[in-house]
Amino acid sequence: MSKQSHAQWSSRLAFILAAVGSSVGLGNIWKFPYMTGESGGGAFVLIYLVCIALVGVPILMSEWLIGRLGQRNPIASMSLLTRRFKRSPAWVLIGVFGILGAYLILSFYSVIGGWGLAYIELGASNAFAGLDSAAVGDMFSGLLADPTRLLLWHSLFMLLTIGVVLGGVTGGLERATKLLMPALVVLLVVLVGYAATSGAFAEGVAYLFTPDFSRLSKDGVLAALGHAFFTLSLGMGIMIAYGSYLPQEVNIGRSALIVVVMDTVIALMAGLAIFPVVFANELSPAAGPGLIFQTLPLAFGHMTGGWLFGVLFFVLLVFAAWTSAISLLEPIVEWLEERTPLSRVGATLVAGAATWALGIVTVLSFNVWSGVAPLGVFAKFDGMTMFDLLDYFTSKLILPLTGLAAVLFVGWCIGREELHANLKMGDGAFALWRFAARYVAPLGVIVVFLGSL
Ligand code: TRP
Repeated sequence: MSKQSHAQWSSRLAFILAAVGSSVGLGNIWKFPYMTGESGGGAFVLIYLVCIALVGVPILMSEWLIGRLGQRNPIASMSLLTRRFKRSPAWVLIGVFGILGAYLILSFYSVIGGWGLAYIELGASNAFAGLDSAAVGDMFSGLLADPTRLLLWHSLFMLLTIGVVLGGVTGGLERATKLLMPALVVLLVVLVGYAATSGAFAEGVAYLFTPDFSRLSKDGVLAALGHAFFTLSLGMGIMIAYGSYLPQEVNIGRSALIVVVMDTVIALMAGLAIFPVVFANELSPAAGPGLIFQTLPLAFGHMTGGWLFGVLFFVLLVFAAWTSAISLLEPIVEWLEERTPLSRVGATLVAGAATWALGIVTVLSFNVWSGVAPLGVFAKFDGMTMFDLLDYFTSKLILPLTGLAAVLFVGWCIGREELHANLKMGDGAFALWRFAARYVAPLGVIVVFLGSL
């Protein structure tokens, strides 16, 4: 059987760790809290949870299925399946957009990962001790205002990512993930504990879990949907690639539940750690992308042993970002390797350099180009920097659309029996899943989309 030529995960645990490593990252700890704050709190969180359950889970399962049925990289899997199920080759665009999106996302992801590195250094030099909120704000704006510092940390983060993809040392990474992900959870528990004992915890909890729909805009709903894709690493072909290494006996539904629960719990814990600090210090929840960098150092600066916790936290944040960044670079490298005469090493260097170069656009968006709004002629994009646009077009456009295509393909182009045999779910659960994949998830994406236009 030709299938045997394609590598497989060494175990179910290895697969889950890789999927969790990809999905848990800056999206959970950096992006989720600041988006919640920008979109008004509880109502956003509720819509986000609904999107995860009704759209995220069916699409995650669909992407793994496409990979397992295709047994190849995302583009090749899609082209094989379109031939096998006699569908239009246009579906292959799912894979193509995935590569483009991964490239765009990684370019700014690496800059934010660089912020995390910068904060490891700050924490290690005990720079958080005793700071008040104004000083913490200054520390962050000082970093953003300095393109050279941003560029250096972005370069280091990119080098770390390129290093792993070059070395293919995923075995070591797997072992590290097994240790560091639980460590991240433990540290988040400590931070939530600190938040619970030092002031505005009730206010923070109410902010996160009491929905006030008057504060949620249509764009907020689209943001919640887009973030469900971002945080689960959907719509980029990454989960298709992971599915292609998946042995037949692994249960896709159960694995999806594990990954989604882990991912969601970590995001909610980050929210619970951050918002009480925001309210206790009369900071603005809507501070934007700097939110965690302007709040957590306040907490570290005031708790006993805060120096150590600060360093540990940013180390773990960078680690989580790193495993996600690897999962973004890998598909670009594979694609280049297959499409061009480049060797694996050459492809890694080219993809890494190209991503690093595009990252400079994000670096400059926070200082030299902070007043430049390239699409400012359109009212919708008024005041949005290049970084804002990169984030907007990937999370709110490319990810939902490719994810939509993937779930439509699985729901409508692959036969019922084939799906049922592959998913090995009970009849009831399977019917529910298929209904979600055919109707709920696609309609959800379409409605949110049209609503925000
Ligand atoms: N999910 C990661 C996070 O939340 C980011 C990420 C990794 C990603 N791979 C992806 C996002 C693919 C979209 C698509 O930080």
